[in-house]
Amino acid sequence: MPRKVNCGIDYDDGYDDDFDDYDYGYDVEENVKEPSLQDTIKRGVWRCSVCTYDNDDTMSSCDICGILRSPSVSNGTYDEKRTAPFKFDVPSPDDLVSNGLHSSAQHSKAKIFDFKSSRAPSSGVGKNEAVKVLSSAKSSDSSHDSTGKDKHGGIIFSKNLEINPSSGFKASDKSSASMAKGRVEDSDGRSVSNNLCSSGQSSSSLMPKERTDMVEDGSSLTHGGEGYLTSNLKNMTLGAKSGNSKDIKANSRAQYKPEKWMFPEKAEGSLTQLNLAIVGHVDSGKSTLSGRLLHLLGRISQKEMHKYEKESKLQGKGSFAYAWALDESAEERERGVTMTVAVTYLDSKRYHVVVLDSPGHKDFVPNMITGATPADAAILVIDASIGSFEAGMDGTKGQTREHAQLIRSFGVDQIIVAVNKMDAVEYSKDRFDLIKSQLGTFLRSCDFKDSSVTWIPLSAVENQNLVVAPSDVRLSWYHGPYLLDAIDSFQPSSRDFSKPLLMPICDVIKSSQGQVSACGKLEAGAVRSGSKVLVMPSADIATVRSLERDSQTCSIARAGDNVAINLHGIDGNHVIAGGVLCHPDFPVAFARHLELKVLVLDGATPILMGSQLEFYAHHAKEAARVARISLLLDSKTGKVTKKAPRCIVAKQSAVIELVLQESICIEMFSKCKALGRVFLRTLGRTVAVGVVTRIVEELV
Ligand code: GTP
Ligand code: MG
Repeated sequence: MPRKVNCGIDYDDGYDDDFDDYDYGYDVEENVKEPSLQDTIKRGVWRCSVCTYDNDDTMSSCDICGILRSPSVSNGTYDEKRTAPFKFDVPSPDDLVSNGLHSSAQHSKAKIFDFKSSRAPSSGVGKNEAVKVLSSAKSSDSSHDSTGKDKHGGIIFSKNLEINPSSGFKASDKSSASMAKGRVEDSDGRSVSNNLCSSGQSSSSLMPKERTDMVEDGSSLTHGGEGYLTSNLKNMTLGAKSGNSKDIKANSRAQYKPEKWMFPEKAEGSLTQLNLAIVGHVDSGKSTLSGRLLHLLGRISQKEMHKYEKESKLQGKGSFAYAWALDESAEERERGVTMTVAVTYLDSKRYHVVVLDSPGHKDFVPNMITGATPADAAILVIDASIGSFEAGMDGTKGQTREHAQLIRSFGVDQIIVAVNKMDAVEYSKDRFDLIKSQLGTFLRSCDFKDSSVTWIPLSAVENQNLVVAPSDVRLSWYHGPYLLDAIDSFQPSSRDFSKPLLMPICDVIKSSQGQVSACGKLEAGAVRSGSKVLVMPSADIATVRSLERDSQTCSIARAGDNVAINLHGIDGNHVIAGGVLCHPDFPVAFARHLELKVLVLDGATPILMGSQLEFYAHHAKEAARVARISLLLDSKTGKVTKKAPRCIVAKQSAVIELVLQESICIEMFSKCKALGRVFLRTLGRTVAVGVVTRIVEELV
């Protein structure tokens, strides 16, 4: 029934809880310049070869990053092990604490972001059948034709990206990275390279050589107003709006004139679309809750439900009957674990809700990131059982905090905390209050406003407080809204109807007849049958043949809509997940050298010069290296506290430069929030969230 958003990770064989299959022993020898003698032998100090900190001569290891002193400058104490290729040793936060370097602002509200999203109704959408999941856990080349309608009449998607366990992420479809060829002129008359091995069609504007539409100069970095990284972001956006931007490109964007059909006419009775991410720690009951809601609202028939119950019982997984509606793959069912985001639909009074049921297991956080980024709002599911809430909150193994931080950095500022499995704690008010108090403090530190968080005690299994008020007397102490009511209380998201088309491609469907469709959520603009679109990064111009929303043909799709866009006039291999459909005159950037403003998450390992990280932005992933840490910012005021620091530790924010292994479609946050948000991960955890502040060098 649901469609699975497939981020293409090749979970080849069984995983275990520790998932140590990846080789995280990054060899940074290539990336880190060995210190010259002059560098290293300053009087009384030695310079760390990794973070370049000048340590006191008496120190045998770096005071900042804990790396042992290089043998070439040690006081005769030659460390034989260090002559071997250098393995990157990241000190644990505990090490830093013991060095007195851990952020002392334990209780400070290190706000992550303030991606304010004003809210306005979007176009209504019809009632549609849910689309079937794409769920093969095996990665495959995007050129394969594995798609078409599945047995449920839905659509199965192909995968386009894979993780190379040893070297990080890589586009498996080499076309994404190897297309730079001829030169053309962009709409502003600049010479740009045509990134194309295309069908021979030309675009009037392709990739500008240099992005000068910086809305951010030193001042926007240094004067944060009310502080926090967030306020800098606000300033950036304001800077652009107030005409501080020097870019001709920005002017030409301002000159963009949307046509009348691009704006929705709110038809009476039509529902506004709401992309709702269901997130939370593993086994908290996300899929069970989603399945139960679908069943209660008639999206899963009684007959289907019987089938799930029977089959799950047969496999000794009776308690997963509702989750089976979402966890469709044999592997997910066998393990009782969601692996990829399942997309399904339900209608509330006010919304056509696109449900994004995310995996909670820590190994599948990358899938959660790529699948749930289009969320407008979220339900954070908590397992109220004794010990389970605590496990979810655990800083190293729990996913509750990481999911909350990620959701906030996706721009989601309104959430429901569904305190599930209340049946397991006798619907205890004390337990609910304890969870609310502990988690509430953390959510505030993530910049969720109390007024934007709704707390609901419920039980998915016992159907308490989901679509009607609870019937169990043990919940008589609760007087708030039930879950469906709370969903209807979300504010609708604003949509960028008046901007040029931008649709990050999350999946590609290829039919056996050679037709190709790009799937994703329109972040800006609109398209209709017959529209010309620029497909990046191939820079091919294609024509929209038809559009599908929730498996139903539609004639127009506008910002906020999740659609499959059937294209013609393009080689199917040039349409890849992680790519972007844009207006032909307003191409998205394609780059690998970026400047970011990042916040290192609480408890995360430090980021050093030369650190190898996994980089995520919209549906794109790439291996990346920290090329420069330019500025350290005060996380409260946003002011520059240090230039060229050696490393950034937990709760610090900074401006850094990152070089990706391959170029990706990307945009500055000030231009497109959805394409300018980034996530940095390493060692199986998200270490930082941030935004793109500058495209340092675009592919030419
Ligand atoms: P992942 O997607 O793998 O992170 O798991 P999940 O959060 O989707 O959890 P899932 O729905 O698969 O449920 C995990 C287990 O919790 C199953 O055995 C469910 O029956 C059980 N469960 C879910 N909701 C409830 C509830 O309200 N009460 C009780 N007692 N158990 C529940
Ligand atoms: Mg699940």
